[in-house]
Amino acid sequence: TVVVADTGDLDAVRRLKPQDCTTNPTLLLKAVETPAYAHILEEALTWGRGQGGSHAVEAICDRLAIAFGAELAGIVPGRVSTEVDADLSFDTEATVAKARAIIKAYEERGIGRERILIKIASTWEGIRAAEVLQKEGIDCNLTLLFSQVQAQACAEAGVFLISPFVGRILDWHVKAGGGPYTGETDPGVISVRNIYASYKAQGIRTVVMGASFRNVGEIEALAGCDRLTISPALLDELAKAEGDLPRKLSPDNAEKIPVPTRLDEK
Ligand code: E4P
Repeated sequence: TVVVADTGDLDAVRRLKPQDCTTNPTLLLKAVETPAYAHILEEALTWGRGQGGSHAVEAICDRLAIAFGAELAGIVPGRVSTEVDADLSFDTEATVAKARAIIKAYEERGIGRERILIKIASTWEGIRAAEVLQKEGIDCNLTLLFSQVQAQACAEAGVFLISPFVGRILDWHVKAGGGPYTGETDPGVISVRNIYASYKAQGIRTVVMGASFRNVGEIEALAGCDRLTISPALLDELAKAEGDLPRKLSPDNAEKIPVPTRLDEK
């Protein structure tokens, strides 16, 4: 398993040394509120004031995402995921255009496209956009993925990586009165395991990166997945974990999630 940090907190990434990093607008908003990173916000605001016009606010937000992404790319050796605005999730053309602009902005900062994943919602339109981008050599991370159906469509579109969510599925089940769950019975974990099993059974090369974790039990139950993107708080908890878990989460561990012979087996 390759461990990825799900954060915009640059100091946490320096300390935790993940291979890759994923961000989203919520995480970047949190990071930008950190006084230590005020210079990044200031730089984006100064730039935005210079732009003017009706798209200035959107431009400032884009600039911020790239500025944080560039800092993260300077820390991690692997990939940084940068998200395309959620309001473009149902517009294939706009998503493609925004992704190209993000890549161009990174390239202007000397960061090649091979270091970036464009994070796109796994809507039908988002998956179609990813299909176009992948053909241009722009690798995509398809997020907000909750089902095997979405995962299959992503694989058929030639997507580089999917982020099937765990915690949000758990949240919904708990809200609906389900549980209590353990890592093994967690409905979000079961969803990711089924997607992983289905991919491996078909020989699909799209990377499976479990995301949206709520507790260490979920991470433990998914040790062996291709990648897992985890918040600094849970990475800190994992660092204290005893037993076999640290070995299982090491990139050298060849042990995969057990793939059931029948996909409906838990
Ligand atoms: C990952 O890429 C996602 O942005 C993240 O894990 C979402 O987690 P959440 O369900 O806690 O928002």
